[in-house]
Amino acid sequence: AALSPTSRVLAGRHVLVTSGPTHEPIDPVRYIANRSSGAQGTAIAAALASLGARVTFVTGPASVPPPPGTNVVPVETAAQMLDAVRSAMPADAAIMAAAVADWRVVSSSVQKLKKGESGPPTLTLAQNPDILATVAGLGSDRPRLVVGFAAETENVVENARAKRLRKDCDWIVANDVSPSTGIMGGSENAVTLITPQGEETWERMTKEAVAARLAERIATVLS
Ligand code: CTP
Ligand code: CA
Repeated sequence: AALSPTSRVLAGRHVLVTSGPTHEPIDPVRYIANRSSGAQGTAIAAALASLGARVTFVTGPASVPPPPGTNVVPVETAAQMLDAVRSAMPADAAIMAAAVADWRVVSSSVQKLKKGESGPPTLTLAQNPDILATVAGLGSDRPRLVVGFAAETENVVENARAKRLRKDCDWIVANDVSPSTGIMGGSENAVTLITPQGEETWERMTKEAVAARLAERIATVLS
C-alpha cells in the first residue's frame, strides 16, 4: 500500500548508511573479506527511505542488491569507504552497519602473486581506520545520531557496551554472529539495542523487521 504523506516523518532529513563487507586487495585477483551479505544495512536504508529520508548508502561489495530510492555509493576497501563517508557529510544521522575489514594488506601486489621456489608469501597487515569512531568524533560536523553495530561471537552485550563507549557512538546494535545462529548470511537477526537510556533485547525477527523498528526509533529522535 502507498504510504500516506504523514508517514514520511523523515522528509528533509539526510541519513548516511554504511553496509556490506569491504574487500582488501592482496593482488589484482585476490582479497581479504568477510561473510557480511549487506542484508541488514540494505534493509535499514530501505526502511529509512520509506519514511522519507534522503539516504546516502555507502556499500562494499554486498551479495544483495542496494535499496531503490537511495543514493548508492559503491566502494571496495575500508579506505574508500572512509572517503565516501566523509564526502557524504553533513548528515542528520549515520548508521554504520558495514562489516569493515579490520586489516588491509600493507603493500598489495600490482601483479598476480605466483607460486615459486620461495614458498607461500607472507602478508603484512595494517589496521584500517575506524570509520564509525571517525564519524562520532567529528566535532561540529557530527551527525546528531550515530549508530554502530557490534558483531560478536561471545560476551555479546558486554563487548557491545564497551564498543559503544570506546567509539563514542550514541547507540549500538549488538548481535551474535556465531555460525550456529545463521544470522550472518541469513534472513533473520536477533539484536540488543544499547542506548544511554538502557538496553532492549528484541525477539528474533526478519532483518526487514529489525530495520523497520530501528528506523522508527531513529525517526523518533530526528523528527
Ligand atoms: N567499524 C568501522 N570501521 C572499522 C571497523 C568497524 O566503522 N574499521 C564499525 C562497524 O561498521 C560497526 C562497528 O564499528 O558499526 C563495530 O564493528 P566491529 O567489527 O564489531 O568492531 P571493531 O571495533 O572492529 O572490533 P572487533 O572486530 O575487534 O570486535
Ligand atoms: Ca571488526
